[in-house]
Amino acid sequence: MAIQPTRDDKFSFGLWTVGWEAQDQFGSATRPPLDTVEAINRLSDLGAYGITFHDNDLFPFGCSAADRQREIDRLTGALKATGMVVPMVTTNLFSHPVFKDGGFTSNDRGVRRFALRKVLENIDLAAELGAETFVMWGGREGSEYDAAKDIRGALERYREAVNLLGDYVTDKGYNIRFAIEPKPNEPRGDILLPTLGHALAFIETLERPELVGINPETGHEQMAGLNFTHGIAQALYQGKLFHIDLNGQRGIKYDQDLVFGHGELYDAFALVDLLESAGYDGPRHFDYKPMRTEDIEGVWASAAA
Ligand code: GCO
Ligand code: MN
Ligand code: MN
Repeated sequence: MAIQPTRDDKFSFGLWTVGWEAQDQFGSATRPPLDTVEAINRLSDLGAYGITFHDNDLFPFGCSAADRQREIDRLTGALKATGMVVPMVTTNLFSHPVFKDGGFTSNDRGVRRFALRKVLENIDLAAELGAETFVMWGGREGSEYDAAKDIRGALERYREAVNLLGDYVTDKGYNIRFAIEPKPNEPRGDILLPTLGHALAFIETLERPELVGINPETGHEQMAGLNFTHGIAQALYQGKLFHIDLNGQRGIKYDQDLVFGHGELYDAFALVDLLESAGYDGPRHFDYKPMRTEDIEGVWASAAA
């Protein structure tokens, strides 16, 4: 029996997933860039309802205001043509060398301010597009050597940053909530807020904890050897599952970002059972990387899967 997804299933994809050019640590890209409009059209045909992106998936870092606007217009044109929506937006605070030591927790004050500015601008865009969730994955917020960063100080800076963002959306009257995405390591040797438990505890220290929840990713909890389904159950229990990144991982190793269900199959089954029986009605967001060995037709086959 062929199962055809519909918009009611609320399947969404990051532009960076199907658009990944498959460059890894040891090898260059094996696929050409994928155009935003093409990505939206193809995902819409497959039955997805939403597309998400980092600011710099849509337009390059440091581009002119006119170039930025042109890409936003192309995006909104494709949304209008297909009926797709943007349920979530996130910010790239990890690719550019300026973020080598993090954004919100960089040891350099100028970088911390720049990171905040970049996020605030992107929150305005998220609000304009009607996104209700703003994800924060702190991939570079960490260190390799314990002496390289004062962790208590860094957490305080993290807290100040998220408090400021909470004030900002409140002052602007935006209907946006934040979702912190935990990950134990990669690209940093150790990343702050490494598991959903750490993130949940951190959220309680904030000035507006009600505005902040989590965006757990299947593989990230599994990289830490944890039971993802139990973690999601706790997030639901505490009313903090604001968003979810579905993918696959096989054991404790580098972040594989496989297709959901292509890692630990039984865990994936238990998770679906949990989400459906708990009545989770947020996006079912896929954050995976089509295999580097696939060409573009393989990319669409993986998205369909
Ligand atoms: C990863 C992360 C990223 C984030 C994304 C959102 O696999 O390490 O999941 O893909 O989800 O960058 O900011
Ligand atoms: Mn993710
Ligand atoms: Mn991942």
